[in-house]
Amino acid sequence: MKRLGVNIDHIATLRNARGEFHPDPIFAAKFAKNSGANSITIHLREDRRHIKDIDAKKICSIKNLLVNLEISLSSEIVKKAIKFKPNFICIVPENRKEITTEGGLNLKKNEIKLKKIIKQFKKKKIRTSLFINPSLADIKKSIELKTDCIEIHTGKLANLVKSKKDYSNEYERIKRCSLLAKKNDLEVHAGHGLDYNTTKLLSKIDEITEFNIGHFIIGESIFYSLPKVIRKFKDILKKK
Ligand code: PXP
Repeated sequence: MKRLGVNIDHIATLRNARGEFHPDPIFAAKFAKNSGANSITIHLREDRRHIKDIDAKKICSIKNLLVNLEISLSSEIVKKAIKFKPNFICIVPENRKEITTEGGLNLKKNEIKLKKIIKQFKKKKIRTSLFINPSLADIKKSIELKTDCIEIHTGKLANLVKSKKDYSNEYERIKRCSLLAKKNDLEVHAGHGLDYNTTKLLSKIDEITEFNIGHFIIGESIFYSLPKVIRKFKDILKKK
């Protein structure tokens, strides 16, 4: 059974719009888990635009909840992540002006930093993932960096499918990358821009074992409720 990670950043976005306490991301983390999420993803951004330090600290300390903390390479955030000790960490690129994470990490440019950080997380027994574009060169570099997992950025595929364009090349690229990663003992995850259609499509790739989905789940839940949306994703991930 493939796993579903539910990204609850936008619960914090909504709370922050009022500057008060509701809706509460801590409640959302527990509620999503009880509704069937296998893990909860939160992104502690350098600009703290949604999840705040106190949210991350509290969510990481909830018992029996698997937390995937997304962070950039900033040393301030890396230190915080080690202190909060989530179960999983996914390292992502961050760019001040972006609305969301626009692409994968530049592994070559950040090679030395990444090696050091991955080693630190390994020592703390935190499963580490690198958010990368579907490129064979990046898979090879990820193997060299000795990360536990890679998460493939699926934004390009999602955009092609949504705009009804030919997505076959991008799909094959993701498939080839997943195969190479799995062959070299890397766990393969996928995320960004996914909805029911694109998740169904990618769930056919055996090597992908985890999907991390946020925007669509929270948006769709406004109409159909979080438990129903999570159940629908879990059903998709059960079938092939
Ligand atoms: N995975 C990673 C590493 C991300 O940075 C994001 C976006 O924050 C997601 C998954 C979820 O993307 P979306 O909100 O488009 O589902």
